[in-house]
Amino acid sequence: MDSKPNPTTLKNAQKALLSWYALYGRHHLPWRDKLAPNRAYRVLISEIMLQQTQVKAVLEHFYFPFLECFPNLCALSAANVSEVLRAWQGLGYYSRARNLHKLAQICIDNSKTSTLTFQDINNPLPCDIHLLRKLPGIGTYTAGAIACFGFDLPVSFVDSNIKRILLRLFALHSATPSLLESKAKLILNHKESFNHNQALLDLGALVCLPKSPKCKDCPLSNLCLGKENWQDFTQSKPTKTIKQTLHFGIFIRDSNIALSKSKEKLYFGLYNFPQIPPHLMQTSQKLGILKHSYTKYQLTIEIYLCPFAALDSLSIDFANKDSLEFFMRNSLESLPLSALSLKILKFLHTKGLF
Ligand code: ADE
Repeated sequence: MDSKPNPTTLKNAQKALLSWYALYGRHHLPWRDKLAPNRAYRVLISEIMLQQTQVKAVLEHFYFPFLECFPNLCALSAANVSEVLRAWQGLGYYSRARNLHKLAQICIDNSKTSTLTFQDINNPLPCDIHLLRKLPGIGTYTAGAIACFGFDLPVSFVDSNIKRILLRLFALHSATPSLLESKAKLILNHKESFNHNQALLDLGALVCLPKSPKCKDCPLSNLCLGKENWQDFTQSKPTKTIKQTLHFGIFIRDSNIALSKSKEKLYFGLYNFPQIPPHLMQTSQKLGILKHSYTKYQLTIEIYLCPFAALDSLSIDFANKDSLEFFMRNSLESLPLSALSLKILKFLHTKGLF
C-alpha cells in the first residue's frame, strides 16, 4: 500500500499518541530520564541490553549494577573485557558485552584525535546515526534509538514492536526494512520525536500486541488500515528450536573445580564446565540432568562427577583439556560464568558437592 495518510488524520493521530503516552507510557523506565547524568551513555547501555532481553529483567537485575561498575564510556573503555563479561553475566548473548567494550575503546581513541566536540567529555559518543552505525554492535535500529533517545534528534527507527504497528497501520502483509523505515519516517512527529518514539515502543508492548491487540484502546485506531484484519498483518517468524543433549564433567580436587575458558564465538571469554567424551561417561558417576534454553537451543544437560585422575589419562579427543583452569569456590565470584555454568554450580551446591 503506497497511499499516504491524510495530513489531518496523521496530525490528529500523532497528538492522540502523545496524549496516550502521557497517560499510560512507561515514564518510570530509568533510561528515559532526560535529566540523568551521562544520558546518551545510559541510553546506549539500555538499548544494547534490550536488544535480546526483556525490559523487566534489564530493569530488575542488570541495568543499575552495570552502571555502577561502569558509570560512563571512559570507565567502560578502561576496564578489561573479563570485568565487562562478569557484569554482563546472566544477560546472555555475550557478543553484546564484547562489542560494547570495543565500542567504548574506539570512541575514546577517536575522541583523542577527533575535531568533533562532544557534549560530555567522559562519554564521547557520536550523535550522528551514520557514525553510530559504524560502531560494533550498533545496527540501524540502535543507531536511531541512541540518536533520538540520547541526543533528542528527530529520527525514526523500527524494532520488532514498531514493525508490527507499521504492518497493521499500513495493512502490509510483509515489508522490506527500507519500506518499514520509510513508513516510520512518514508518521514521525519531528517536534516530539523522543516522546513519539517512546510511545510507539510502549504501544507495541502494551496495546498493539502480537496475538490479542487492544484496538479499542489504541490512539492510532483512526489511522489504522489493518485493524479489522490485524491477523493478516502480523509477520511473525516461527523460531526453530534445536534440541541437543550435552555431557558436562565435574572434576574436583582439594576443593578446586575445573572450568574451561571458552574460545567458541557464542561464549568467547566465558568460563564453562568441560564437556566430556562418551568413554568418560562410563567411568563417571551421573549426578543428574538439567534443562537449559539458550538462543535457539533447548538443551538437556547431563552432569557427571568424573574421577580426577581421568584428566591425565584423557587422550587429545578431550578438546577442553588444554584450557582447563582450577578454581576455589570463593574465587568464582569475580569470574565471568555462562548462565549454564551458574545453573550447574547451583545444582552442585544443592547436592552438597561444591
Ligand atoms: N526497547 C528498546 N528500547 C526501549 C525503550 N527505550 N523503552 C522500552 N523498551 C525498549
